[in-house]
Amino acid sequence: MTKTMLVTGGAGFIGSNFIRFVFEKTGFKGRIVNFDKLTYAGLRGNLSDIERRFGPKRYVFIKGDICNFKKVNAVIRKYDVSVIVNFAAETHVDRSIHGPREFIETNITGAFNLLECARANWKNRKDVRFHHISTDEVFGSLGKTGRFMETTPYDPRSPYSAAKASSDHLARAYFHTYGLPVTISNCSNNYGPYQHPEKLIPLALLKAVDGEPIPVYGDGGNTRDWLFVEDHCRAIWVILRRGRPGETYNVGGNCEKRNLETLRALFRALEKLKPSVKNQMLKGCRYEELITFVKDRAGHDRRYAIDSGKIKRELGWKPRFGFSEGLEATVAWYLAHGSRLKKTVAASYRAWLKKNYILR
Ligand code: NAD
Ligand code: TYD
Repeated sequence: MTKTMLVTGGAGFIGSNFIRFVFEKTGFKGRIVNFDKLTYAGLRGNLSDIERRFGPKRYVFIKGDICNFKKVNAVIRKYDVSVIVNFAAETHVDRSIHGPREFIETNITGAFNLLECARANWKNRKDVRFHHISTDEVFGSLGKTGRFMETTPYDPRSPYSAAKASSDHLARAYFHTYGLPVTISNCSNNYGPYQHPEKLIPLALLKAVDGEPIPVYGDGGNTRDWLFVEDHCRAIWVILRRGRPGETYNVGGNCEKRNLETLRALFRALEKLKPSVKNQMLKGCRYEELITFVKDRAGHDRRYAIDSGKIKRELGWKPRFGFSEGLEATVAWYLAHGSRLKKTVAASYRAWLKKNYILR
């Protein structure tokens, strides 16, 4: 691939992993323009090594809001963009419960704006691609059995997932109405390096290292299907290369775990790399003893599980990382970078965490 790819939200968790993956592991010869608003969740420094190695010829960073039609339009023109991968979103369910407005603006209006810019610039071109990143949360909550298929009806239950569902519908509508070459992927919960410590795995990891209480919502029995972020990045790449316009692909780890199981697996990885007996912050207790049950999340979805049969059958993708392997890589990364990350989490956000959930 020698094209210019516009990656929105490329300073966040999955977007920054995707950009690094594309440059380092795919043989991509083109240029990436990373367009990111740098909200509390985005850090330009997540890609400072890539910026040093590939900028400004093959990697360009632009600070901007996907809701800004003029700016997005100018970027598509200036850089002759022919592939758009839309990661940009507000992504934390708890935040969406406490303040949904930004979720509606970025996840719906922003996605609509990007689709409009693509349509205005690309007209009827077929050598272009708009890939929209979505989530399994749009399908709602499962009972004890069954898995989400591409054909499962949407049933979003949080402001976050409802906003993501809206943008998926818009992306599909642009394919059917205007013939825009759109693909969509709905992925399960990711974990790995560069994830913001508001999400369960990095939050628990950093708290465990510091010997702080680890908040578990409800009974800890809620189930998520975990996927190491590099496997997600490879799935997106495969869809860009071989996915069919108009199609949706479910991407999952086939790794269903109840939250308490996830934490225990995380503690096993931590014990290997930073044994609790040698961690003075724990004052003699073990990681597991830090678990603290707290009030449940409002409308907390009980279970997610993805059937990724379609992307396996049609595009030959399957996850390569096992859960313990992925967790050990994640723990190793946070042990090396965690203190820097903690400093960059804004004081206001830490205050918000204190007020709403954790350090009551
Ligand atoms: P993140 O919160 O880590 O990063 C989001 C990025 O988007 C940040 O860099 C932020 O600055 C940027 N952004 C936010 N609003 C913007 C705007 N208006 N204009 C431009 N940039 C903006 O999120 P993530 O976990 O990397 O998720 C990326 C995408 O993947 C999202 O669309 C999310 O819905 C989807 N997804 C995430 C997961 C997961 O487990 N994290 C799973 C499935 C799908
Ligand atoms: P999270 O990482 O926020 O992802 P999502 O809500 O998008 O699935 O949460 C994963 C699971 O962990 C979810 O069931 C909520 C739970 N959780 C806790 O129990 N405690 C926490 O502090 C957080 C952030 C999440």
